[in-house]
Amino acid sequence: MISVIFVCLGNICRSPMAEAVFRDLVRQKGLESKVQVDSAGIGEWHVGKPPHQGTCKVLSEHNITYDNIYARQVSREDLHKFDLIIVMDKKNLSTIHGMIGESNVPIYLLTDFISGSNKSEIQDPFHSGDFEEVFHLIKLGCHGLLDYILSKNNNRDD
Ligand code: 4NP
Repeated sequence: MISVIFVCLGNICRSPMAEAVFRDLVRQKGLESKVQVDSAGIGEWHVGKPPHQGTCKVLSEHNITYDNIYARQVSREDLHKFDLIIVMDKKNLSTIHGMIGESNVPIYLLTDFISGSNKSEIQDPFHSGDFEEVFHLIKLGCHGLLDYILSKNNNRDD
């Protein structure tokens, strides 16, 4: 079993979208018992809320479900419990590095898994409203992330 947590600022736009897209991909590959997926936000403003309507709309348009996803705030415990922490932008990265301290838990930007892309982060659509562009990047990133996980774990049975 490998566990992944997606983290953004509010946990209502990008990270719940990534959670839903990655869950869908994991389900399509029949890997639900091998890959655990979650998401959380750095801020507490939206705790308990469902994803932003822009995220819901784009997920619905792509036939991806987002049941049972509600915003929560990331905790220090999360950061030591998950095998991989995937953040959306450079500000998230520095905040999470600051929370983790000296631990060597792997933290990546989702864009690290998009080969050949000139994008170095996924900016929040909360202000831009560009949920389709964010979906496009998240989908590419999730495919690359799953390939990475499979390539690292293809000799493991647990
Ligand atoms: P997210 O987007 O980090 O992708 O969920 C945002 C959501 C809310 C806010 C900022 C970004 N906010 O300022 O409330």
